Amino acid sequence: MADRIVLAYSGGLDTSVAVAWLRQKMGYEVIAVAADVGQGGDWDALIARARAAGAVEAMVVDCTDEYARDFLAPALRANALYEGRYPLVSALSRPVIVKHLVEAARRFGAVAVAHGCTGKGNDQVRFEVSTASLAPDLDIIAPVRSWGMTREQCVDYAAAEGIPIETSKGSPYSIDDNLWGRAIECGVLEDPWASPPEDVYELTAITATEPTEFVISFEEGVPVALGGVPMGLADIIGEVGARVGSYGFGRLDMVENRRVGIKSREVYECPASLALIMAHRDLESVTLERDLAHEKMRLEPRYADLVYDGQWFSPLRSAIDAFMGDANRRVTGEVRIVCERPGTRPDGTPTPGNVSVGGRRSPYSLYDHDLATYGEGDSFRHEDSEGFVRLWGLGLKTWAARAEGSASKGSASKDSASKGSA
Ligand code: ARG
Repeated sequence: MADRIVLAYSGGLDTSVAVAWLRQKMGYEVIAVAADVGQGGDWDALIARARAAGAVEAMVVDCTDEYARDFLAPALRANALYEGRYPLVSALSRPVIVKHLVEAARRFGAVAVAHGCTGKGNDQVRFEVSTASLAPDLDIIAPVRSWGMTREQCVDYAAAEGIPIETSKGSPYSIDDNLWGRAIECGVLEDPWASPPEDVYELTAITATEPTEFVISFEEGVPVALGGVPMGLADIIGEVGARVGSYGFGRLDMVENRRVGIKSREVYECPASLALIMAHRDLESVTLERDLAHEKMRLEPRYADLVYDGQWFSPLRSAIDAFMGDANRRVTGEVRIVCERPGTRPDGTPTPGNVSVGGRRSPYSLYDHDLATYGEGDSFRHEDSEGFVRLWGLGLKTWAARAEGSASKGSASKDSASKGSA
């Protein structure tokens, strides 16, 4: 019997050709596994295409809820943004996909897994490092990296094999999308000077005409309700994305540092993830004690780097997650999101409307009106400040007095520095 291989199948040209190639050139029985991570699609057509390409098994695994619960919720608690901006749309989906590839490999007794990534991107790193972390015994094959076919040759190969591919559609872009957002590469976007054409946007196409606001409820750092109505996390993500996306909120245009050393121009649409991170960070601003907040902010970029670099299943990611979880125990409360009316350019095309936090409240809020107010009811002990500030600045004052070059020139304080010992 031929060895079996589990292929991460997207239904596109490359992975469809990969099914045929792995069978013909490498002699494998191919099991095609597609993961539903909230990207939507025609799953029946996808399964039919995998079979037409010669897969012995083809299946779609619905991992949307698992993805939201076990991958997106931790990333949200960590406010995970690569290079301070990108909410890790593709990076977060790869480990959940790999988890299911490995499960399928065990179930079907496969000896290897395969993916359709090229040699230039981050996704190969994520697929392979995640697979090695979960199943060090499995071989990994990357057909697209080794077959040396151009896109035209792939199209011909697919035609010769009778694989139904929608080449007529011919989108100039390479798209990867899931519940957390959408990544758009290639085509005119490869010129970092060129503005992204309006037609690259789907999740943030501007359709809203009126201002609106809504409330997101969080429990321990995770959204649990929208407008007071309890909902599952995946549904909240979808609904928040639809609402703020219609104002054109969530667009990113950046040149990013890939793990493999390439700078690449990336356009993203991340309405849900960026709105939820904005809301979550805001709720943290009232519920986290200062030192905890600052230490958390120091760890957040480290966490994002680990996810970006394919280290989801590392002990360090898991340990930082434990910190993030503990830090979020009191991040419970409500955030009010305000969406302002989109504008119009002179040529009539719409411009995004501002989306921001209008207010926040929490049973654990550390905001104390009577301490903060400059008006009636002030409970702050003003007399405490004088001595506090004097001691806070004492070291610098001493240093400044000595820095003049003469030790005898004077002391920082006649009544403290010269009197007795510390
Ligand atoms: N640059 C982003 C990342 O590395 C997006 C990758 C998109 N992947 C794709 N196959 N188009 O996370």
